[in-house]
Order: sequence, then C-alpha cells, then structure tokens
Amino acid sequence: KKVVLAYSGGLDTSVIAKWLQDQYQCEVVTFTADIGQGEEVEPARAKAHALGIKEVFIEDLREEFARDFVFPMFRANAVYEGEYLLGTSIARPLIAKRLVEIAEATGADAISHGATGKGNDQVRFELGAYGLKPDVKVIAPWREWDLLSREKLMAYVDEHNIPVEQKKGNKSPYSMDANLLHISYEGNSLEDPWTEAEAEMWRWSVSPEQAPDQATELVLTYKNGDITEIDGKPMSPATVMEYLNKVGGENGIGRADLVENRYVGMKSRGCYETPAGTIMLKAHRAMESITLDREAAHLKDELMPRYAKLIYNGYWWSPEREMLQAMIDISQKHVEGKVRLKLYKGNVIISGRASDKSLFDEKIATFDDDGGAYDQKDAEGFIKLNALRLRLGAKQK
Ligand code: ARG
Ligand code: SIN
Repeated sequence: KKVVLAYSGGLDTSVIAKWLQDQYQCEVVTFTADIGQGEEVEPARAKAHALGIKEVFIEDLREEFARDFVFPMFRANAVYEGEYLLGTSIARPLIAKRLVEIAEATGADAISHGATGKGNDQVRFELGAYGLKPDVKVIAPWREWDLLSREKLMAYVDEHNIPVEQKKGNKSPYSMDANLLHISYEGNSLEDPWTEAEAEMWRWSVSPEQAPDQATELVLTYKNGDITEIDGKPMSPATVMEYLNKVGGENGIGRADLVENRYVGMKSRGCYETPAGTIMLKAHRAMESITLDREAAHLKDELMPRYAKLIYNGYWWSPEREMLQAMIDISQKHVEGKVRLKLYKGNVIISGRASDKSLFDEKIATFDDDGGAYDQKDAEGFIKLNALRLRLGAKQK
C-alpha cells in the first residue's frame, strides 16, 4: 500500500507524513508544489527524507497554475458571493490533479491531504481526485485522528522525534494559504467577525492609507481575454501575476475582509490579499466593455455566479464546469486590445480602453451630428412596440 501526500513541509503535514506510516503501515510519497506561495519548496525534500520518505516530488507549477486555472477563471470574471476572488479554491483542482497523476506514476492507490473536516479544501481535493481517478482511496487524517488540539499535536511531534524548525519572528497565529492569486487568513482573532484584523497580519500589501500619493499607471494588452503584455512588454501568465501583485500591493490594492458561506454549511470569516486578481477583474471588464456584444456579456454575467460557486464548491473537474468554460472561452474570441488604468490608494481606476475589434462606434454614439449613421426616428417605433403590452396592461387595470 502506498499513499501520495500533499506535503507543504510545515508542521501539520509533517505530522501527517509520520502518522500515515505508523497508522497505515504504508509507504508515503510526498508532493510539494511551488504555486507562487512565496516560500522555498526545496527544503521540503530534506524534511521528507528525515521523516523516512523515499519518493519525494517537488515541482514548480506556477505557469501551469496561472495559465490553465487562474486565467481561464478570470475570463469569466468569477467572484464568489460578490466579494471572494477564489484564490484558494482555484489552486485545489491543480493539486488534486497532480496527486492523482503521481499516484498513477508511483503505483500508489491512495492520496492524503492536511485539510480539516470542517472546511472547503477537503471537498475540493477529494471531488477532484474522485473525478480524475474514480477508484482512488482518500485518507484525511484530520477527520480520523485525535490530535485535534495544538498540545496533542506537539506531544505527537515530541514522541516521534519529528523535526521542527523554529521560524523566528515569522510565526503567524492565523491559518494561512498563499499562491500566485492570493494570501488568505482565517482563525485566531478573526473568529469574531466584529474584531478588526490587526495591521501586522497583512503581508502582501500596504494599507491604502500608507500607499504612495502618486498613482501608478499601467497599460495592459489583452488577447483572447488574457493579459499578454504589460506596458508593451510581453509576459507569461505567471509573470503577469507576479508583476501585478507587486505593483498592486505597493498601492494598497486587493484587501478584503469578509464572511463567506462554506460548502459544508457554516459561515466563516476570512481576510484576503488579492492584488493582481483585483486589477485583472476590473481591467478585463473594461476590455470586454468595448469588445463583447451586449447579450453575450449579459449572459456571461448571469452564469458567472454559477461558475464561481462550482469552483468554490470543488467542481472544477466536472462536466458542468467544462460546459461553461467552453462557452466562456468562445466569448473571448474578440476580447483583445489595450486597457489603461491607474493604481491609487487601494483603487483600480480605468482611464482608457482601445481595440481593433471594438464595437464602440463613435460615429453612432456621438451627441453631435452623426451624418445619418443613426436615424433617431427609428426609436419611435421601437419604443411604441415595446410599450404595446404595457398599454394593454394599463387598460386592464
Ligand atoms: N475560505 C477560503 C476558501 O475556502 C480560504 C481557505 C483557506 N484554506 C486554508 N487551508 N487555509 O477558499
Ligand atoms: C481547512 O479546513 O483545512 C481550511 C479551511 C477550508 O478548507 O475552508
């Protein structure tokens, strides 16, 4: 028996790596990915070996994450419950996919993860795994063991000589998750929804109050709904995100403090920093505003909450996501051109948009004489026929 573990190199998943070997007498394969969390992944190799692991997988998935997960999701302008940009939700299907692929490659029959039994992440990992490898076994230690308190966990660490590095000055009391799209904070003092987040909690951005008095101007180039250049410089998807996170963070862009509905039924308070995502959402809408047909845009907007919810709930690898994605991708055929914007004290301010594929016709839209491009007399019949049923209805009353 062999199990592939999603291993961060941190304390919790190190305990899991040991626990799986003891409890299940099985061989453990670890998988650690760089998806832009901003921490070295290579140290996970030595840590895994120290725990008796023989097969260690360490991968840089930043480009795949940005190109095949984040960018497709932003073509849809996806936002969960009006606020959450799905930073953690969109990373889980990629981890699930690699867990299953590594299981196939190493002859493992099971996968394991460090998500608790109370959250969304367990659902996302496991729905993804079952959707890609129907016969896979799943081991979720947090739902099985009795190491539920910090004290019990530390006792297990001592008892089994699990190596822990003392990170000095870097210790955070929050449950955090970071990747190219966001960093999230949950738990601790945030569990009271009335308590304001401490200023020292935020790691990626300055507060809008502390941001520079001078705006930062950017020009984003789009092709098929994706950013391909910033200020005329071609950039890969992951590079785009790294760059926008940096300039966004410097200008106080992308902080959010919200209470969301978890799939398992509870409400949960979380804080998020999503600088690149916040810029991308606003800019993409500006690009679509001149290149997308009205009804196509409105239909996208109607379906967007469904699409966002299915990603939040863990159904990336589902037929309904593939259907919606195909529709969204087709809609992006002409979504190309440039968007100009300013970043200023927490705000993303659009200042221009242009496209060779623009549907915006200045000759038609002008308040000046349009030389017959639009016949105002046509509007009379248009309004009269649209008013017909309203007039019949008014008579009925
Ligand atoms: N509440 C967010 C979500 O469900 C963030 C979850 C953070 N996960 C974590 N393991 N800290 O997407
Ligand atoms: C967890 O429960 O492991 C983190 C929070 C979540 O998945 O929603």
